Amino acid sequence: MKKLLAMLLALAMILSQAACGGSGSSAETQSEPTEAPVETEPEVEPEAEPEEEPETEPEAEAAGYTTVEEGKLIMSTNAAFPPYEMVADGEGVYNGFEGIDVEIAVALADKLGLELVIDDMDFDSALVAVQNGKSDMVLAGLTYKEERDKVMDFSTSYATGQQVVIVPDGSDIETMDDLANDKMIGVQRGTTGEMYAADTPENGGYGEDHVLAYDNGALAVQAMLNGQVDAVIIDNGPAQEYVKSNAGLHLLEGDWVLENYCLAVDEGNTGLLEALNSALEEMIADGTVQAIIDKYIAAE
Ligand code: ARG
Repeated sequence: MKKLLAMLLALAMILSQAACGGSGSSAETQSEPTEAPVETEPEVEPEAEPEEEPETEPEAEAAGYTTVEEGKLIMSTNAAFPPYEMVADGEGVYNGFEGIDVEIAVALADKLGLELVIDDMDFDSALVAVQNGKSDMVLAGLTYKEERDKVMDFSTSYATGQQVVIVPDGSDIETMDDLANDKMIGVQRGTTGEMYAADTPENGGYGEDHVLAYDNGALAVQAMLNGQVDAVIIDNGPAQEYVKSNAGLHLLEGDWVLENYCLAVDEGNTGLLEALNSALEEMIADGTVQAIIDKYIAAE
């Protein structure tokens, strides 16, 4: 009996995997074994059961919104962005993470009566996750941008940031204009820093050819220390931390454009955004957000 069941299960898995391969010809099917192992997309997981749609769970609906997983608030982020989110251990750390966004998220989840789950990934993936229904919100020192607003819905802003330039001491780059002298600029992939740097010179950028994008800010800084790029453009928060923790770096002086940090949900996820926004606005009004920011950023 057990044997039969096992055989049936094995057959079902083969069938469902074939079905996930799409309506391809047998030629395409042959190429699948080499592709399958590298695919991490959930559609190749045969155990994914469509009847487990969390969106239709009644308890969550009573609150006027639903979350990806009932009772949970999944936050996608990139925890390599001090002091907003970073991996840490010790006291006061939430499941291995700490930072301004982490503490705000803990408080938000608490207000909503949800369990916070932090999903750490590359920054560009964190934006995609919320759009693909893999996370409920992206909270990642995320700057409001009109083009992002087309695919996500943004909350009230809870903090501000600026893009700044880090250079090694002794660099001949003394102003932003010097960056135009055939310099290489390191950025974090998918960030506003990359957008500004890679923009055309007519638009105030330096052109794609002068930009190298890294998985996170720390790697961009490391690349600069190794001489692979001449400067790094990144948000002032992490920039201050990198300058503090690496000898021989400094920030350029400048009047940088102010950016608004917001959390974002998937486009059209109005119920959840409203719930998050009212919780966030309460926390802004009663000083909770400022207290969290002050804890990590000494008043300047
Ligand atoms: N503020 C910048 C942006 O929105 C960079 C944010 C990067 N955040 C992170 N957690 N790595 O593009």
